[in-house]
Amino acid sequence: MTGTLPWDGEMTCVRHDERTGASFVIALHSTTLGPAAGGTRAMAYPSLDEAVTDARRLARAMSLKMAAADLPIGGGKSVIMLPTPRAQLDDRRWREILSVHAHNLELLNGSYWTGPDVGTGSEDMDVLARTTRFAFGRSVAAGGPGSSAEATAQGVFSAIRASVREVGEPGLDGLRILVQGLGAVGSRVATLVAEAGARLLVTDVDEARCGPHVAAGARIVPAEEVTRTECDVFAPCATGGVIDTDIATMLPARVVAGAANNILATDGAERVLHDRGIIVAPDFVANGGGALHLIGREVLGWSESDVLARTVLIEKALDEVFTSARKQRITPLQAATAGAVERIQA
Ligand code: NAI
Ligand code: PHE
Repeated sequence: MTGTLPWDGEMTCVRHDERTGASFVIALHSTTLGPAAGGTRAMAYPSLDEAVTDARRLARAMSLKMAAADLPIGGGKSVIMLPTPRAQLDDRRWREILSVHAHNLELLNGSYWTGPDVGTGSEDMDVLARTTRFAFGRSVAAGGPGSSAEATAQGVFSAIRASVREVGEPGLDGLRILVQGLGAVGSRVATLVAEAGARLLVTDVDEARCGPHVAAGARIVPAEEVTRTECDVFAPCATGGVIDTDIATMLPARVVAGAANNILATDGAERVLHDRGIIVAPDFVANGGGALHLIGREVLGWSESDVLARTVLIEKALDEVFTSARKQRITPLQAATAGAVERIQA
């Protein structure tokens, strides 16, 4: 295998299933704080190398996310490299793929727990849970806590509030907020910021998803124009890797705060944004609401209101990250990473 990133995690498992044509990558980044947990991402990837790299980067982000949220859980991630895009898979083949994945989870015997991510949802966790105990986020009908998207969106909204304060704005009223990706999380973020008085700009590769927001007054931005569009807050809520160093040199925004895991294609991009005075909310802090929901409800016995109370504290956690970064003359990503690593090592 070539081109994979230097990996500081514990274990990567790779399996190819001839029958379905799917390949499975499960990366366990850290089990220091508890069993590794992180969602299952099901997508078509250009190569197995890219699937492995994605799983590892996402697993690392989960370790930092769990530590930043003070949860007694480690970080991991599954990637299912699909033979064709998810929308083109028929139901039978998808169920066969899930059945292989459930078997993978059983083999790992609780060292790794999964949950929903891009390409999977609560109903898929219901299917996995028929074979394995190691799936968080079953639907409410199947006795689980349901989708994590609401809590994630609430946390991202809190992160946007903290971030705009950091650039001197008292609130969201009148600010141009561009939400990229109007799926489970992004559509809720869009609604929350619009309700708070923001001028909403929206984009999705599936334009139909923009419809309800446009009907409520939002402006559509073509998907390929997104990093060239002037706004106060850019909120990436699709997949990650949106901002590389070149884009960072010209991104016309004052704040970057969104739900996507690994928004930055490289950590170096944050330094470029930072030097331009652009505030970046570390994504593993901003999008921690989903983990709080799943781990809180399923492991720690929290109620929905406990989850909400913890999720809105993301605003305070980010205030602390920004203050610590200013004091130490480092970037917010460096400050948040140092805090999370300290928790893991302690
Ligand atoms: P989703 O799959 O429901 O929505 C993603 C949306 O992005 C879809 O509408 C898709 O059409 C759109 N999209 C994909 N590529 C795009 C592009 N290049 N430009 C514009 N739109 C594009 O996923 P979900 O659950 O909303 O998650 C969004 C992000 O947030 C993901 O990166 C996920 O890992 C992250 N996240 C999700 C959590 C959750 O609780 N669901 C928790 C923490 C992070
Ligand atoms: N995939 C989501 C995330 O990245 C939700 C999730 C959290 C899934 C924790 C499993 C475990 O946060």
